[in-house]
Formats: sequence, structure tokens, C-alpha cells
Amino acid sequence: MPDGSRLELGTATASYQIEGGVADDGRGVSIWDTFAARPGTVRDGRDGTVACDSYHRYAEDADLVAGLGLDWYRFSIAWPRVLPEGSGRVETRGLDYYDRVVDALLERGVKPAATLYHWDLPQPLEDAGGWLARETPAAFADYAEVVYARLGDRVGLWATHNEPWCAAYLGYAAGVHAPGRREGGAAHRAAHHLMLGHAWASERLHSLGGSAGGCDVGIVLNLAPIRPGRSEAVELADQIDAVRNRVWLDPLAQGAYDDGLLRVAPELADPGLVRPGDLEAIHDSADWVGINYYTPVRPDVVVAGRPPHPERDAYPGTDPFDLVVPEPRTAIGWEIDATGLTDVLRETAARIDRPLLVMENGAACSDEVIAEGRVADDDRIIYLRDHLAAVDVARAEGVDVRGYVVWTLLDNFEWAEGYTKTFGLVHIDHTDQRRTPKASYAWLAGVVRERSSSLTE
Ligand code: BGC
Ligand code: BGC
Repeated sequence: MPDGSRLELGTATASYQIEGGVADDGRGVSIWDTFAARPGTVRDGRDGTVACDSYHRYAEDADLVAGLGLDWYRFSIAWPRVLPEGSGRVETRGLDYYDRVVDALLERGVKPAATLYHWDLPQPLEDAGGWLARETPAAFADYAEVVYARLGDRVGLWATHNEPWCAAYLGYAAGVHAPGRREGGAAHRAAHHLMLGHAWASERLHSLGGSAGGCDVGIVLNLAPIRPGRSEAVELADQIDAVRNRVWLDPLAQGAYDDGLLRVAPELADPGLVRPGDLEAIHDSADWVGINYYTPVRPDVVVAGRPPHPERDAYPGTDPFDLVVPEPRTAIGWEIDATGLTDVLRETAARIDRPLLVMENGAACSDEVIAEGRVADDDRIIYLRDHLAAVDVARAEGVDVRGYVVWTLLDNFEWAEGYTKTFGLVHIDHTDQRRTPKASYAWLAGVVRERSSSLTE
């Protein structure tokens, strides 16, 4: 883990969004393969079959990361590459791929940070109940162990889940992400099992890594500042805060789900779901907390339009009624407000006593290819500059935030938005996979140089 003496910088990607090679080397089917194949699920009707072809171009990608001079590259591991059926048989060729990725980074002086679950659940596990079944967190811990046994000698920073809020609420309540279920309370059940998976995997990694292994295990959450502008929205704001933020932080920090949360999520009071020992296992199971921040949540917008629905209202873009978002906005329609990042860091530090890492922050922009080899994305530069400054503000106030990671290295498969929204520092021509660093890439490389020279002066 970064020691906090300076803010360490990185960039991130996720397996299904960049790898392609979905049928290579024995990879099993994931819920995103299945979901994206269903008509009407992805805006442009496309999927991750080819994506950025990083399964074959990882060395070129590692060169791009190294060219930025960054400390860290955060990538995720596709569970179905390692265990095609989700549990049981290990596919060593899948592990070989991540071995190559890790070595490519280390050879170039970049530290690897691995995420075990960035939403690509093996389909056989979904068929057996997915995150609604208690067998899934158990399988997740076994999977974590298999991956750690192979990469743990070289990877010191581990994230169990990325944004379990999306996996649970977008996957099981809103139905806009895989597996595409709309079952309301199911999302809370999925949330508990995701946390249990985190806790069991964390315990397993710690027992294998020991203190000598320097194994730091955390979880990456898309926490958000909730900003009610009108008094009518205060109650809804509190409910949204419960299912967006507290459902993860409370059990980690206090080993409990509080009454306010249980009113919104009564399933979490079900003793069949939350069994003896579960909350104790989750309590204190993260060495660090990762925060992904893009935009604040404004409950007024939804209150004005229709009856409130906390699970869905917690994220812009999950409901067709979310039409009135304040300006300025990025190309995906999310309000731009860098002060929200300082706020969420400050609020999270008050809720949990752990080092914080900003594990994703970035913007979808209308990038302009102005000439061969030149892509202008000034809006992204301004967005990143302001958000990085917002992290510096939090650090100056004494918040223990140790890293800042830009989403994302490459234009990639943006889930339900397909390839229509681009967040990359590097443009991809999807006809031939040509990679062209954008203006923001050169800007970020300059920031990294400036920050490291100001330290050595
Ligand atoms: C978008 C996805 C996005 C997700 C979380 C959803 O509203 O449709 O593309 O990944 O939010 O960021
Ligand atoms: C996710 C990424 C996604 C990004 C932009 C985050 O919610 O972790 O996978 O691409 O937001 O939507």
C-alpha cells in the first residue's frame, strides 16, 4: 500500500471492458457475455468479444502505462478465465495471462494492483443463484486463493470487489447491468453476499500472505456525496445514503447494519440471510478503502419527477426519469463537481478509520480526432486537473488519502453504454485497434513529472 508520504498516481482498467479474447485459452462464459447478447441491453448492441483486444496487446498497454510514468496500474482478473465453471477446475492458461500482465508491468517499473471482481461472474454460478446464493461468496474466496497463489509473490495490493453497489443494485434491482434482474429486495441480498465474499476472500489472502507477504486487501466502493437541495428531499437523501454508502461502510467499520438502513433494506434483518458470524467476519476486513468518484447524487431531481425509489435513485442514469441533472455535465450526462470528491473523502474518513485510495475518477468526453495521431480532449484535462486538486485539498486537511487513479487507460466497453462513451487517456480505433494517446495522456505524464521533480528539489 502506498505509505502516504506523497499521493501516488495510477490508471485503471477492467477485464471485460478491455480484454476481448472471450473464447481464448479455455475462458468460461461470464454474465456479461450473456447479458450483452440479449437484445436491448447495451446501447449500441455490442459486447466485449473483442473490446480493446488487450488479451493479445497487453505489452503495448503496459508500454502506454509506463509512458505516463505512473506508480500503479490497476487491472481486474476475469474469474471465468481462471475457473471456467466458477469453482473446481482451474484453467492455468488463464492464470498464465495475468502472470504475463504482472511481469510486463514490473519490467517497466509499474506496480500492479489487482481487482478480483469487476462484475464478470462465471455464468454457471449465476445459473446456480448468483450473488443471491451463499455458495457464491464461498466460491469467491476459493477463487481468490487460486489467484493469490499464482500472483501473490509479485502483487502486493489487492481489491476484492469493484463497486459492489453496481453489481447488486444495477444488476439485481435496476436490471441495467448483468445479470439484468429487477427483483427489488434481491439487491440487498446480493449486497450482503458480496460483502461476505469480500470478507472471506480477505481473510484467505491475509492467511496466505502473512505479514511478510505485504498483502494489503481492500474493497473499492462507489461512495457518493448525497446532496439534497430542498427540504422535501432530505429523507430520501438519508435513504439513498443508506443503500449507497452505509450498507458497505457500516458493517466494515462497526460490524452492524443500523436501524435506518434496515428500514430501507429490511432483507438485511433476515436471520436466514445474515447468519451468526457474518457481520463479525465483515467487521475490520479491509486494510484500505477505495473510492470511485464521478459525480454527486442529487435526490431533488428524482423527487421532482416521480415517487422516490432509493435503490434506483442512488445513481444517475439508472432510470429514465433522471432527466434533470445540473450543468456542467460530461458526455455520459453526469454532473461535474470536483468539490464532491473532497466531500466524499472527508465524509468517508469520518466513517471509517482506514487509509483511502481514489481508485477511479475520470470523464466521458466528446473527444475530437483532429489529425492522424492527435486527439483533443481538453474537457478531460480540466476535469482531471480539478479532481486531482480536490484530492490535494483533502490531504491538506489531513484526510489520509494515499492514491489517485484515473479511469481509464483506454477507450473501452462502457457496459450498458457499449462503445458510445469514451473515458480513455488513449483513443482506440476499433477497426484496427490502433492506440493513439490523447492530449490528456501528455498532460497527465507532465503532471507526474512535475510532481516527482517537486519532491526531489
Ligand atoms: C451506466 C454504466 C456505468 C454505471 C456505473 C450506469 O448508469 O449505464 O455504463 O458503468 O452506471 O458507472
Ligand atoms: C466502473 C467502471 C466504469 C466507470 C464509468 C465505474 O462505475 O467501475 O467499470 O467504466 O465507472 O462508468
